[in-house]
Amino acid sequence: MASQNTATPVPKGTPLTIDVASYLGTKPIRYVKPEWRIIVADRASIPNPENPLADWLPTVVVPALKLIVEDRGPVKSFASIGTGAGVDILAGIEILGATVVGATDVFPDVTTAAEWNIRQNIGDARPVEVHVNHGDLLTPLRGRGLGFEVIYENLPNIPLADASALEEKRNSAYFVPPRAEKVPQFANDQLLALHYIALRQSLEFLSADGFVISTLGGRIPLEYLSRLAVESGLVPSFLSYSWKIQAEGEAVLPSYAELEAQGLGPFYYYPADALEKTFHGVSTRDSGLRALELEKELLPHRVTAKQAWNVYQQGQRIGHTVAVLKSARR
Ligand SMILES: C[S@@+](CC[C@H](N)C(=O)[O-])C[C@H]1O[C@@H](n2cnc3c(N)ncnc32)[C@H](O)[C@@H]1O
Repeated sequence: MASQNTATPVPKGTPLTIDVASYLGTKPIRYVKPEWRIIVADRASIPNPENPLADWLPTVVVPALKLIVEDRGPVKSFASIGTGAGVDILAGIEILGATVVGATDVFPDVTTAAEWNIRQNIGDARPVEVHVNHGDLLTPLRGRGLGFEVIYENLPNIPLADASALEEKRNSAYFVPPRAEKVPQFANDQLLALHYIALRQSLEFLSADGFVISTLGGRIPLEYLSRLAVESGLVPSFLSYSWKIQAEGEAVLPSYAELEAQGLGPFYYYPADALEKTFHGVSTRDSGLRALELEKELLPHRVTAKQAWNVYQQGQRIGHTVAVLKSARR
């Protein structure tokens, strides 16, 4: 499959230009164009090249991809479930050195733009085989004989009460229940259902030595993330453990507090000062190796979403941890 497709009409959406070296924090740029010109579809999450520190891809995903290459060298095949604008795939091409990529997302307008973004921004150094299709999880990539060494997912946690609302909003944080698949009770209670289903499905698409990386804004104990992999038939470890300030706290904290009130969770937060102190000077690699120990250190500072919402309203800075779970074939 050709990597360039200049004949394809420009898809609908908002244009955005991204300086790749500063966005990905890496130099030299070898396999993608040094400046990406992308189109962000209305329902895709928007990359934030002006402030990479506030963007999941450069802060959480890219450091994990770099660790993967350090550990096993270049990765030939890479897929993203729920790619959004497709920039995660471009990062995989550049950082992992992937030459076969697969990406899915729910809506055709999102994947049309993502595919365009990927194809337009692959560099001239070598061809990349690109597979993009819309639909549920990995099912749009079925029947193509594909096997991936690394599958990435940053799927939504929160079930959407009213599925029709999905049409109206950027759906980066929500997914549509109910699902037909059987999901363990703990995964439903901890808002891990879609991640569990994705891991189960990945077994069909992983190469023999492949693994899935799930990025999880861990408002729940790490033991549940490990259990997610184990109950999916995979072997868990943590690639990294970090933290983020809770952005848009006025919207997010009450919704987690409400889910707690419905018997889900509890969902845990920490004062930003405690997070800063605990993670100070810990390298990305050590953060993954020491994830359980770091979580234990944070325990005395832990508050529920309801408590976090109370102190947030009094002006306290609140954050949550973020884990990159690696789920490998046995
Ligand atoms: C948080 S965004 C992640 C975007 C991008 N992968 C990233 O990490 O920046 C989650 C994405 O998952 C997609 N998504 C939600 N449910 C999905 C499903 N069942 N199958 C495929 N994609 C889904 C959403 O449309 C959204 O683009």
